[in-house]
Amino acid sequence: LRPGAWVEDAAGPLYVRLRKRIEQSIDSGLLAKSAPLPGEREIASLTGLSRVTVRRAMQELVDRGIIVQRQGSGSFVADAAPRVEQSLSHLTSFTEDMERRGLNVTSEWLTRGVFIPSPEEVMALALSSGEQVARVARLRRAEGRPMAIERASLPTDILPDPQLVTSSLYAVLERDGNRPVRALQRISAVNLGAEDAALLGVEPGTAGLRIIRTSYLPNRRVIEYTRSLYRADAYDFVAELRLGN
Ligand code: GLP
Repeated sequence: LRPGAWVEDAAGPLYVRLRKRIEQSIDSGLLAKSAPLPGEREIASLTGLSRVTVRRAMQELVDRGIIVQRQGSGSFVADAAPRVEQSLSHLTSFTEDMERRGLNVTSEWLTRGVFIPSPEEVMALALSSGEQVARVARLRRAEGRPMAIERASLPTDILPDPQLVTSSLYAVLERDGNRPVRALQRISAVNLGAEDAALLGVEPGTAGLRIIRTSYLPNRRVIEYTRSLYRADAYDFVAELRLGN
């Protein structure tokens, strides 16, 4: 961050240029993982930018999970998104998957409420005409790093009050005796659109994994239709295969 150096490249608002500059310094290894960053005031005087601009750039870096701020001790480069090996043969929840690995889970709410269903939701959940749908959409983080966007839809008799989901959806379903026992999961590759990419803290167009899960109760009723976008650099999906059919 030589004075003036950041202005050389890229167009766009100053805070975006500063954010990109800091991201480049991290990507190139100039700023190591876990390294402390200079304070807001120092960055402002190094770059000649206002503190408001610096604060905005830093906030974006925090939102993207690229830096972490610790009360009283300043900002640090975050460790890379934890790379997770995910079994394809167990019906588990995000919270369970992360906690089993000792990773701390947080979620940011994108949507939580009861809505008029889309034709896709009506089909997937076999909703009857006029029936509403419960939607629970979250950006999911492990150790502060964005891992996935999950958009879950459920029948309202299964989840009458989506506001009751504060952390784990499956924990709420389990409490009500509605834990799914079977699911079909479809995984495909996608290029992330601008909005989803920004939430996941990657550049638009980056490859992601789209996962659609349809889950069932023991009586074969569909109770969950979830469209997820996972960071491709954070997941390995693993399945055991056996000879035979
Ligand atoms: C997984 C599944 C989702 C499911 C979620 C529940 O990530 N892909 O379909 O909705 O787990 O997770 P939690 O119980 O942590 O909310």
